[in-house]
Amino acid sequence: MTKLTIIAFDGTRFELDAADGSTVMENAVRNSVPGIDAECGGACACATCHVYVDDAWTETVGGPHPMEEDMLDFAFDLRPTSRLSCQIKMTPALDGLVVSVPERQG
Ligand code: FES
Repeated sequence: MTKLTIIAFDGTRFELDAADGSTVMENAVRNSVPGIDAECGGACACATCHVYVDDAWTETVGGPHPMEEDMLDFAFDLRPTSRLSCQIKMTPALDGLVVSVPERQG
């Protein structure tokens, strides 16, 4: 299990135990984190699972892959730390990861 913290837009912190291989989006949906719509179910085809990776983690998590980058163009309030949470897979290297949810999706 890997620790994952998702901060909702209202500041509520969701401190989760994420299974290795699960995505940040799956953990958000499973734990009813508000603001992650994930309309396409994780297929990298909707951009409604947009999150900001905490500054301390951007290097470890890495940037979006090209297909994800194209989808991110549809995201609201895009920032350099933006990622689609269905494209971030939890691994032991991401133990303690912190991401936050934007004001709205799309
Ligand atoms: Fe649709 Fe992530 S859930 S792009």
